[in-house]
Amino acid sequence: MALHRLTTITLGVPDPAAAAAFYREFGLRETATGIFATTDGGEQLRLAAAPRRGLLELGLGVDDPDDLARMARSIEGLGLGVERNGATLRAIEPAARLRVTAAIAPRIVETAASRSTSNGPGRIERTNRPADGVLRTDPVQPQKLSHLALASPDADQTIRFLTDGLGFRTSDRIQLVAFLRCSDDHHNVAVQAGPCAFLHHTAWEVADVDEVGRGGAAMVRTDPARQLWGLGRHAIGSNFFWYLRDPAGHFAEYVSDLDRITDGAAYAPPVWEGPQAIYAWAPPLPGEFLMPADLPSLME
Ligand SMILES: [Fe+2]
Repeated sequence: MALHRLTTITLGVPDPAAAAAFYREFGLRETATGIFATTDGGEQLRLAAAPRRGLLELGLGVDDPDDLARMARSIEGLGLGVERNGATLRAIEPAARLRVTAAIAPRIVETAASRSTSNGPGRIERTNRPADGVLRTDPVQPQKLSHLALASPDADQTIRFLTDGLGFRTSDRIQLVAFLRCSDDHHNVAVQAGPCAFLHHTAWEVADVDEVGRGGAAMVRTDPARQLWGLGRHAIGSNFFWYLRDPAGHFAEYVSDLDRITDGAAYAPPVWEGPQAIYAWAPPLPGEFLMPADLPSLME
Protein backbone atom coordinates (compact mmCIF):
# COMPACT_ATOMS: atom_id res chain seq x y z
CA MET A 1 0.00 0.00 0.00
CA ALA A 2 2.11 2.97 1.12
CA LEU A 3 4.23 4.96 3.45
CA HIS A 4 1.63 6.51 5.76
CA ARG A 5 3.03 8.14 8.89
CA LEU A 6 5.84 9.37 11.07
CA THR A 7 6.23 6.88 13.91
CA THR A 8 8.93 8.06 16.28
CA ILE A 9 11.91 10.39 16.44
CA THR A 10 15.06 10.17 18.52
CA LEU A 11 16.61 13.43 19.62
CA GLY A 12 20.20 13.64 20.79
CA VAL A 13 20.53 16.05 23.70
CA PRO A 14 23.50 16.93 25.93
CA ASP A 15 21.34 16.93 29.07
CA PRO A 16 18.61 14.25 28.86
CA ALA A 17 17.18 15.06 32.30
CA ALA A 18 16.64 18.72 31.41
CA ALA A 19 15.11 17.81 28.04
CA ALA A 20 12.87 15.23 29.71
CA ALA A 21 11.55 17.81 32.15
CA PHE A 22 10.79 20.14 29.23
CA TYR A 23 8.88 17.56 27.17
CA ARG A 24 6.96 16.31 30.21
CA GLU A 25 5.81 19.84 30.85
CA PHE A 26 5.13 20.28 27.10
CA GLY A 27 2.45 17.62 27.56
CA LEU A 28 4.05 14.41 26.36
CA ARG A 29 3.59 11.41 28.64
CA GLU A 30 6.81 9.71 29.79
CA THR A 31 6.25 5.96 29.50
CA ALA A 32 9.82 4.99 30.48
CA THR A 33 12.96 7.00 31.09
CA GLY A 34 13.52 9.17 28.02
CA ILE A 35 10.52 7.78 26.07
CA PHE A 36 7.48 9.99 25.51
CA ALA A 37 4.04 9.32 24.08
CA THR A 38 1.36 11.42 22.44
CA THR A 39 -2.26 10.50 23.07
CA ASP A 40 -2.95 9.14 19.56
CA GLY A 41 0.52 8.46 18.14
CA GLY A 42 1.97 6.30 20.92
CA GLU A 43 5.66 6.51 21.82
CA GLN A 44 6.84 9.17 19.39
CA LEU A 45 9.81 10.81 21.11
CA ARG A 46 12.98 9.26 22.45
CA LEU A 47 15.74 11.26 24.09
CA ALA A 48 19.33 10.03 23.98
CA ALA A 49 22.47 11.52 25.49
CA ALA A 50 24.64 13.05 22.77
CA PRO A 51 27.51 15.55 22.76
CA ARG A 52 25.51 17.94 20.57
CA ARG A 53 21.83 18.34 19.83
CA GLY A 54 20.26 16.83 16.73
CA LEU A 55 17.93 14.31 15.15
CA LEU A 56 19.46 10.85 15.60
CA GLU A 57 16.71 8.86 13.91
CA LEU A 58 13.41 9.32 12.10
CA GLY A 59 10.95 6.44 12.17
CA LEU A 60 8.41 5.94 9.39
CA GLY A 61 5.43 3.60 9.19
CA VAL A 62 4.48 1.64 6.06
CA ASP A 63 1.62 -0.78 5.44
CA ASP A 64 3.31 -3.96 4.21
CA PRO A 65 6.54 -5.67 3.09
CA ASP A 66 5.94 -4.61 -0.53
CA ASP A 67 6.27 -0.97 0.59
CA LEU A 68 9.66 -1.71 2.15
CA ALA A 69 10.82 -3.56 -0.97
CA ARG A 70 9.71 -0.68 -3.19
CA MET A 71 11.38 1.83 -0.89
CA ALA A 72 14.62 -0.17 -0.90
CA ARG A 73 14.69 -0.25 -4.70
CA SER A 74 14.02 3.48 -4.91
CA ILE A 75 16.74 4.37 -2.41
CA GLU A 76 19.23 2.11 -4.19
CA GLY A 77 18.20 3.81 -7.42
CA LEU A 78 19.50 7.04 -5.92
CA GLY A 79 22.86 5.37 -5.34
CA LEU A 80 22.42 5.09 -1.58
CA GLY A 81 22.80 2.01 0.59
CA VAL A 82 19.89 0.24 2.29
CA GLU A 83 19.98 -2.16 5.20
CA ARG A 84 17.09 -4.66 5.30
CA ASN A 85 16.44 -6.64 8.44
CA GLY A 86 13.18 -8.56 8.39
CA ALA A 87 10.37 -6.05 8.62
CA THR A 88 12.70 -3.04 8.97
CA LEU A 89 14.57 -0.90 6.48
CA ARG A 90 17.34 1.54 7.37
CA ALA A 91 18.98 4.16 5.22
CA ILE A 92 20.97 7.36 5.64
CA GLU A 93 20.77 10.53 3.58
CA PRO A 94 24.29 11.93 3.89
CA ALA A 95 23.70 15.65 3.21
CA ALA A 96 21.21 16.13 6.04
CA ARG A 97 22.80 13.23 7.98
CA LEU A 98 19.23 11.92 8.11
CA ARG A 99 19.00 8.40 9.47
CA VAL A 100 15.67 6.77 8.64
CA THR A 101 14.13 3.55 9.88
CA ALA A 102 10.98 2.39 8.10
CA ALA A 103 8.90 -0.44 9.51
CA ILE A 104 5.44 -1.89 9.13
CA ALA A 105 3.17 -0.01 11.52
CA PRO A 106 -0.58 0.37 12.00
CA ARG A 107 -2.13 3.55 10.65
CA ILE A 108 -2.69 6.23 13.25
CA VAL A 109 -6.25 6.49 14.57
CA GLU A 110 -6.96 10.10 15.48
CA THR A 111 -9.31 10.88 18.34
CA ALA A 112 -11.76 13.45 17.03
CA ALA A 113 -11.24 16.79 18.74
CA SER A 114 -14.47 18.22 20.11
CA ARG A 115 -15.84 21.05 17.99
CA SER A 116 -15.32 24.41 19.69
CA THR A 117 -18.11 26.85 18.98
CA SER A 118 -17.21 30.44 18.22
CA ASN A 119 -19.27 33.58 17.87
CA GLY A 120 -18.96 36.27 15.24
CA PRO A 121 -21.16 39.11 14.03
CA GLY A 122 -24.30 37.53 12.62
CA ARG A 123 -22.95 34.05 13.39
CA ILE A 124 -23.92 33.02 16.89
CA GLU A 125 -22.85 29.48 17.72
CA ARG A 126 -22.62 29.78 21.51
CA THR A 127 -25.05 31.50 23.84
CA ASN A 128 -25.43 31.74 27.61
CA ARG A 129 -22.10 30.10 28.42
CA PRO A 130 -18.37 30.86 28.29
CA ALA A 131 -16.15 29.47 25.55
CA ASP A 132 -14.78 25.93 25.89
CA GLY A 133 -11.20 27.19 25.71
CA VAL A 134 -11.82 29.41 28.71
CA LEU A 135 -13.18 26.62 30.88
CA ARG A 136 -10.50 24.01 30.22
CA THR A 137 -8.25 23.29 33.19
CA ASP A 138 -6.55 20.03 32.16
CA PRO A 139 -2.95 20.24 30.92
CA VAL A 140 -2.44 20.40 27.16
CA GLN A 141 -1.63 17.01 25.63
CA PRO A 142 -0.35 16.74 22.04
CA GLN A 143 -2.31 14.13 20.07
CA LYS A 144 0.48 13.30 17.62
CA LEU A 145 3.83 14.25 16.18
CA SER A 146 2.80 16.52 13.32
CA HIS A 147 6.06 17.24 11.52
CA LEU A 148 9.70 18.11 11.72
CA ALA A 149 11.76 20.70 9.91
CA LEU A 150 15.31 19.89 8.84
CA ALA A 151 18.03 22.04 7.40
CA SER A 152 20.32 20.55 4.79
CA PRO A 153 23.40 21.98 3.07
CA ASP A 154 22.19 20.14 -0.07
CA ALA A 155 18.43 20.54 0.22
CA ASP A 156 17.78 19.24 -3.31
CA GLN A 157 19.52 15.97 -2.52
CA THR A 158 17.67 15.61 0.80
CA ILE A 159 14.32 16.35 -0.87
CA ARG A 160 15.06 13.79 -3.59
CA PHE A 161 15.80 11.17 -0.93
CA LEU A 162 12.50 11.89 0.83
CA THR A 163 10.37 12.02 -2.34
CA ASP A 164 11.98 9.72 -4.93
CA GLY A 165 13.53 7.45 -2.30
CA LEU A 166 11.02 7.19 0.53
CA GLY A 167 7.80 8.21 -1.22
CA PHE A 168 6.97 11.57 0.36
CA ARG A 169 4.80 13.89 -1.77
CA THR A 170 5.40 17.62 -2.22
CA SER A 171 2.63 19.90 -0.92
CA ASP A 172 4.33 23.28 -1.36
CA ARG A 173 7.73 24.35 -2.54
CA ILE A 174 9.16 27.81 -2.13
CA GLN A 175 12.70 28.84 -2.85
CA LEU A 176 14.15 27.93 0.52
CA VAL A 177 11.76 25.29 1.87
CA ALA A 178 9.99 22.15 0.60
CA PHE A 179 6.91 20.99 2.50
CA LEU A 180 6.59 17.22 2.12
CA ARG A 181 3.93 14.83 3.36
CA CYS A 182 3.62 11.10 3.95
CA SER A 183 0.01 11.33 5.21
CA ASP A 184 -2.85 13.76 4.58
CA ASP A 185 -1.18 16.35 6.82
CA HIS A 186 0.02 19.27 4.70
CA HIS A 187 3.56 18.51 5.79
CA ASN A 188 5.25 15.85 7.87
CA VAL A 189 8.79 16.88 6.96
CA ALA A 190 9.93 20.32 5.84
CA VAL A 191 13.38 20.64 4.32
CA GLN A 192 15.09 24.00 4.25
CA ALA A 193 18.38 25.06 2.75
CA GLY A 194 20.95 25.65 5.49
CA PRO A 195 24.66 26.14 5.97
CA CYS A 196 24.88 22.74 7.71
CA ALA A 197 22.64 19.82 8.65
CA PHE A 198 20.54 20.53 11.71
CA LEU A 199 17.10 19.91 13.14
CA HIS A 200 15.16 23.18 13.14
CA HIS A 201 12.01 22.08 14.96
CA THR A 202 9.63 19.32 15.89
CA ALA A 203 5.88 20.03 15.85
CA TRP A 204 3.15 18.47 17.92
CA GLU A 205 -0.53 18.64 17.07
CA VAL A 206 -3.11 19.75 19.61
CA ALA A 207 -6.88 20.05 19.30
CA ASP A 208 -7.35 23.70 18.43
CA VAL A 209 -5.97 27.22 18.71
CA ASP A 210 -6.94 27.43 22.37
CA GLU A 211 -4.71 24.45 23.09
CA VAL A 212 -1.86 26.08 21.16
CA GLY A 213 -2.37 29.22 23.26
CA ARG A 214 -2.82 27.43 26.57
CA GLY A 215 0.21 25.22 25.97
CA GLY A 216 2.52 28.00 24.84
CA ALA A 217 1.43 30.34 27.61
CA ALA A 218 1.93 27.70 30.31
CA MET A 219 5.44 26.83 29.08
CA VAL A 220 6.46 30.50 29.00
CA ARG A 221 4.88 31.21 32.38
CA THR A 222 7.24 28.64 33.96
CA ASP A 223 10.29 29.94 32.10
CA PRO A 224 10.06 33.07 29.93
CA ALA A 225 13.41 32.18 28.29
CA ARG A 226 11.61 29.37 26.43
CA GLN A 227 9.68 31.84 24.31
CA LEU A 228 10.71 31.83 20.65
CA TRP A 229 7.75 32.86 18.48
CA GLY A 230 3.99 32.79 18.83
CA LEU A 231 1.13 32.85 18.90
CA GLY A 232 0.81 33.11 15.14
CA ARG A 233 -0.54 31.49 12.02
CA HIS A 234 1.47 30.21 9.11
CA ALA A 235 0.23 30.85 5.59
CA ILE A 236 1.76 27.72 4.03
CA GLY A 237 -0.10 24.89 5.78
CA SER A 238 -2.40 27.39 7.55
CA ASN A 239 -1.51 26.12 11.01
CA PHE A 240 -1.64 28.12 14.20
CA PHE A 241 1.78 27.94 15.87
CA TRP A 242 3.67 28.67 19.04
CA TYR A 243 7.38 27.85 19.05
CA LEU A 244 9.39 27.24 22.22
CA ARG A 245 13.06 26.48 22.81
CA ASP A 246 13.93 23.18 24.46
CA PRO A 247 16.97 23.10 26.79
CA ALA A 248 19.15 21.58 24.05
CA GLY A 249 18.29 24.33 21.55
CA HIS A 250 15.70 22.50 19.42
CA PHE A 251 12.53 24.40 18.73
CA ALA A 252 9.28 22.66 19.70
CA GLU A 253 6.06 23.83 18.08
CA TYR A 254 2.46 23.44 19.17
CA VAL A 255 0.31 23.12 16.02
CA SER A 256 -3.40 23.18 15.27
CA ASP A 257 -5.58 23.51 12.18
CA LEU A 258 -2.95 22.32 9.72
CA ASP A 259 -4.25 21.91 6.15
CA ARG A 260 -5.11 18.36 5.15
CA ILE A 261 -4.54 17.21 1.59
CA THR A 262 -6.62 14.21 0.56
CA ASP A 263 -6.43 14.97 -3.16
CA GLY A 264 -3.12 16.40 -4.31
CA ALA A 265 -4.60 17.46 -7.65
CA ALA A 266 -7.30 19.51 -5.91
CA TYR A 267 -4.83 21.39 -3.68
CA ALA A 268 -4.11 24.64 -5.49
CA PRO A 269 -2.37 27.08 -3.15
CA PRO A 270 -1.60 30.65 -4.21
CA VAL A 271 1.91 31.64 -5.20
CA TRP A 272 3.45 32.37 -1.81
CA GLU A 273 5.23 35.70 -1.87
CA GLY A 274 6.99 37.96 0.62
CA PRO A 275 6.28 37.41 4.31
CA GLN A 276 3.57 34.84 3.47
CA ALA A 277 6.38 32.41 2.79
CA ILE A 278 6.90 32.38 6.54
CA TYR A 279 3.68 33.49 8.18
CA ALA A 280 0.22 34.98 7.78
CA TRP A 281 0.14 36.84 11.08
CA ALA A 282 2.24 36.70 14.24
CA PRO A 283 4.37 38.89 16.49
CA PRO A 284 7.53 40.12 14.74
CA LEU A 285 9.64 37.29 13.35
CA PRO A 286 12.63 36.72 15.67
CA GLY A 287 15.95 36.51 13.84
CA GLU A 288 16.74 33.38 15.80
CA PHE A 289 13.92 31.54 14.00
CA LEU A 290 15.88 31.85 10.76
CA MET A 291 19.31 31.57 12.35
CA PRO A 292 19.32 29.44 15.56
CA ALA A 293 21.68 30.86 18.18
CA ASP A 294 23.75 27.67 18.32
CA LEU A 295 24.29 27.49 14.55
CA PRO A 296 28.01 28.41 14.77
CA SER A 297 28.65 25.50 17.12
CA LEU A 298 26.57 23.11 14.96
CA MET A 299 28.66 24.10 11.93
CA GLU A 300 31.93 23.07 13.58
FE1 LIG B 1 6.35 23.75 11.84
